[in-house]
Amino acid sequence: MVLLDDEFQLRLTDAAAATETLLEAILVESPAEGEIARPARLVEAMRYAALGGGKRLRPFLAIEAARLFGEDGAGALRIGASIECLHCYSLVHDDLPAMDDDDLRRGKPTLHRAYDEATAILAGDALQTLAFDLMADPATTADPLVRAELVLGLARASGLGGMAGGQMLDLQAETEAPDEASIRQLQAMKTGALIRFSCEAGAILGRASTADRGRIRRFGEIIGLAFQLADDILDETATPEALGKATGKDSSRGKGTLVGLYGVERVRTMLDELVAEAEALLAPFGERAATLAAAAHFVAHRGA
Ligand code: IPE
Ligand code: IPE
Ligand code: MG
Ligand code: MG
Ligand code: MG
Repeated sequence: MVLLDDEFQLRLTDAAAATETLLEAILVESPAEGEIARPARLVEAMRYAALGGGKRLRPFLAIEAARLFGEDGAGALRIGASIECLHCYSLVHDDLPAMDDDDLRRGKPTLHRAYDEATAILAGDALQTLAFDLMADPATTADPLVRAELVLGLARASGLGGMAGGQMLDLQAETEAPDEASIRQLQAMKTGALIRFSCEAGAILGRASTADRGRIRRFGEIIGLAFQLADDILDETATPEALGKATGKDSSRGKGTLVGLYGVERVRTMLDELVAEAEALLAPFGERAATLAAAAHFVAHRGA
């Protein structure tokens, strides 16, 4: 499959810019219908966490998956922005002293450092509910059944049996020396579930056939795993300047990672296998899926 690297970079940049513009317009002090008031400090903290940084990979995946099924309007962008809010909340809470205790995120002081812990907890809470607000709003799609399916999917990907559950397992693994199967499961939950859903959400919006939706879902699952493996390699090999967050944290905190278990080189080989599997899943879509195939390479081989 042709890689179209320039095209990929262009589309990632476009998705990031469009997401930024939408979030910028939504994270304002004037209350939405049904709200009472928006405290200035909380709006400011949410803007700090959600604007001006991040690769915006999840919005990109939602937009590209939707495009594969003929949806390239405002709905896919709203879905991407919704998932990005959920992701930003997960980062804010992940960095808290009670969790990974980090001081640097996206090249800036973490939210609890720039503000305070209580504000960071509340900004995370409000970003989470904003994610569901964006998804459930009729502006995302006029079809209430599709909206309900998207909202349910987001809940399942991010809650007890998804991201939040995975974060619980990640913290427990610090003291438990988990085996490969346990590490794979915790990574599939804490990171993979939301990335998988980003892809599947595009297929839901585009009313893909059951077979196509399953294929995209599996593609998302594979690149979700690859994404966390690459994150773990970067934690070991990159600099904080390049990454915009602290490095060397996984080994110092005793995190359960495959890099810790097998070393960087073996995990790089695993990544190559995952990219090949991801590409094979997209083969039936032909050139239409070239940008998603390029995304698989980006996820596995990125430098930041
Ligand atoms: C970091 O996610 C946290 C993980 C799930 C590994 P990203 O690497 O997507 O972070 P941003 O959004 O680009 O900052
Ligand atoms: C975080 O994994 C996954 C989330 C749900 C936020 P990490 O703890 O490895 O993410 P970073 O390295 O802090 O971005
Ligand atoms: Mg963590
Ligand atoms: Mg962390
Ligand atoms: Mg990490």
